[in-house]
Amino acid sequence: MIPTKPSFGQAPLDCPLCPRLVAFREANRAKYPGFFNNPVPSFGSLEAEFLVVGLAPGLKGANQTGRPFTGDYAGKVLYEALALHGFGKGTYQERPDDEFTLVNCRITNAVRCVPPENKPTPEEAMTCRPFLEAEIAAMPKLKVILSLGLTSHAAVCKTLSIRQSQHPFGHGKWWDVSYKGRTVRLIDSYHSSRYNIQTNRLTQGMFNDIIKQVKAWL
Ligand code: URA
Repeated sequence: MIPTKPSFGQAPLDCPLCPRLVAFREANRAKYPGFFNNPVPSFGSLEAEFLVVGLAPGLKGANQTGRPFTGDYAGKVLYEALALHGFGKGTYQERPDDEFTLVNCRITNAVRCVPPENKPTPEEAMTCRPFLEAEIAAMPKLKVILSLGLTSHAAVCKTLSIRQSQHPFGHGKWWDVSYKGRTVRLIDSYHSSRYNIQTNRLTQGMFNDIIKQVKAWL
């Protein structure tokens, strides 16, 4: 049973939709009983103008802490840039109870459950997309969506009903998209993953520049 209108774009705890991800969740519950081990809810207000869409929770990051990007390397890069440009209040301390809050920004993931080896299948991304669609529909002031990486970009393109062939993924590329009577700006960045930083595909400075650009637009 696929929920067509999930409330506010949140996958329910114990979401049953993707058999492989359910099996992985159950294995993780046995192995890491102290972890969150559920679909990770988005962070930040639905009233925000800026939505960051990541890939999926990291096993020992968001899947452990229950807050997107919290507790893993990708989060350090993301939260540093957000705080630098006024999208955060307080000090990010890699814990969900660090009292760090987002300002005019919300963070979610294209796939809400942790996937094995950080790789959701295309089918899992498709199955999870109704949650993103509902979330975007529930953000009345939304102006800018930042996609982190190709899977996020593909999910956002499908959600906004635009063709990926005409909007190919590229770091720093952006488009204004008409969507249900409003205009939303979509911008891409390489994902803030440890791999991308260690291989120098992305630097903290490059990522800060993307967030700075978003700040200038809003
Ligand atoms: N943590 C998340 O919540 N999402 C990502 O894409 C990476 C890490």
